[in-house]
Amino acid sequence: MAKISSHPLEEPGMSSRFIDPCILVIFGASGDLTARKLIPAIYNLAREGQLPPQFACVGFARRDKTHEQFREEMKAAINSYSRVKPIDEALWATFKEQLFYHKSEFHEEEGYQRLGKFLSELDAKLGTKGNRVFYLSTQPSFFTTIAEKLHSSHLLYEVGKSTSWSRMIIEKPFGHNTESAHQLQNELLQYLDESQIYRIDHYLGKETVQNILVFRFANSLFESLWNNRYIDHVQITVAEDIGIGTRGAFWEEAGFLRDILQNHMMQVLSLVAMEPPVSLEAHAIHDEKVKVLQALRPFSPTDLEQSVIRGQYGPGYVNGDPAIGYREEKNVNPQSNVETYVAVKLLIDNWRWAGVPFYLRGGKRLPKKGTEISIFFKDPPSVLFQHPGKKNEPNVLTIRIQPDEGASLKINCKVPGGSSTIIQPVKMNFRYGKYFGTAPPEAYERLIQDCIFGDNTLFARQDEVFTSWDLLTPVLEHWASNPPKDFPNYPSGSWGPKSADDMMTKDGRKWRLL
Ligand SMILES: NC(=O)c1ccc[n+]([C@@H]2O[C@H](COP(=O)([O-])OP(=O)(O)OC[C@H]3O[C@@H](n4cnc5c(N)ncnc54)[C@H](OP(=O)(O)O)[C@@H]3O)[C@@H](O)[C@H]2O)c1
Repeated sequence: MAKISSHPLEEPGMSSRFIDPCILVIFGASGDLTARKLIPAIYNLAREGQLPPQFACVGFARRDKTHEQFREEMKAAINSYSRVKPIDEALWATFKEQLFYHKSEFHEEEGYQRLGKFLSELDAKLGTKGNRVFYLSTQPSFFTTIAEKLHSSHLLYEVGKSTSWSRMIIEKPFGHNTESAHQLQNELLQYLDESQIYRIDHYLGKETVQNILVFRFANSLFESLWNNRYIDHVQITVAEDIGIGTRGAFWEEAGFLRDILQNHMMQVLSLVAMEPPVSLEAHAIHDEKVKVLQALRPFSPTDLEQSVIRGQYGPGYVNGDPAIGYREEKNVNPQSNVETYVAVKLLIDNWRWAGVPFYLRGGKRLPKKGTEISIFFKDPPSVLFQHPGKKNEPNVLTIRIQPDEGASLKINCKVPGGSSTIIQPVKMNFRYGKYFGTAPPEAYERLIQDCIFGDNTLFARQDEVFTSWDLLTPVLEHWASNPPKDFPNYPSGSWGPKSADDMMTKDGRKWRLL
């Protein structure tokens, strides 16, 4: 075992983790995700000395390819997508020797037999000790087949019955509603234990998302105000300026609620709203997150009309460039009712958050890209510093998840000079890259490394997934039986449908401008 860095949520030097030798097998190794995210992440882990010394990565896909061809493709991918470029040739010369390709169909029994034999050979050659991470970078419809084939080929070990370990990372979506999420889980549990399943949500690997807990629980300043006595409301925004690009077929099946809201945004919400965990153990953090999701008030029939807004982009202009509407995109039904925008108002019925609305919104083809959490604090008593007809701005703490990771705090300040007190909001701004002199690592780096460590803190647990679906499945059912009458209802390059603004106006609030 090699000793590597400390736990992401623990103080540096407080505890160190030991990393086992292992082989990472990527299913879907010629896919987009492998090239854009996974291989660059593994390369950067190697560059920073964060991989076990005895390590190999085997790509699994169905096209004919030699190890050398696969290596050349992955080199090109690193040169295109790595956060550090160009590739370090000296490092590459050793790193490429740890990359291999295995050709097989996902359903082909014999392909898994050959895989097992090949992995054993690598174990003997490299000293990887039988430990495996199976990364399923595939459509979810393949998850059960792959788990079943791995199991029948004895490549999945029963927990506690082997000195080696095997883990499986799966990519979202984890089901498309409550029923299918349970079905997927039941199928996987035939072959694996829950502790072996790592549901990746790359938002949880982002440095600023991990920082939410440090921000809250390592600063008495914020945590003492983090409740309904001082907070007026919370906004979580996930804005994309791009459209759906080449992913029309995928988007027609998914939509914004399934692709972003149900997973990434609900995960962020649970971290913002959770109670302090009893420890930094994975189960303690998951327990608190799931309690938040369980406390979310289910939508009433009126809420489904008034507090859940859906939108679809029409033609327009984004950053001055003309943009087509969703219904004109490739592989999209010209009458499609799929949503590319969602805004919801959520209430958490617990002691801390009673009466504090959480407004979540996100969409495609908005004017700007940006993911952030904004905490709006309540106004102080209106006794001093009030000017007729002019309200002071509220204090707002904004945590920026991407781009330009960091945080800012808006406070009111006296404008210097003058005989009367003029108040103006000013901003205290912290930027990750600037302060630490380096861009934070990519989410996939942290998450792949955590899986090798056997640490599932930053992965979604099954009950979190189910509870989130329990809240949102009635929305999907309501939408399915009540097709939208006004789609497309926002032009590309605008901040979404007017009804989303109306929802805020009705509550005497407005969306924060990014
Ligand atoms: N792309 C992203 O940014 C992104 C982000 C988040 C989540 N995801 C999820 O991650 C998964 C993978 O996405 P992707 O964009 O990488 O997919 P993709 O580009 O469509 O790649 C699919 C991969 O699966 C392989 N494959 C398909 N059918 C196979 C079969 N029957 N037997 C063996 N190999 C087979 C393909 O191999 P061949 O090339 O040999 O045919 C290819 O390597 C999806 O579930 C997606 O929803 C993707």
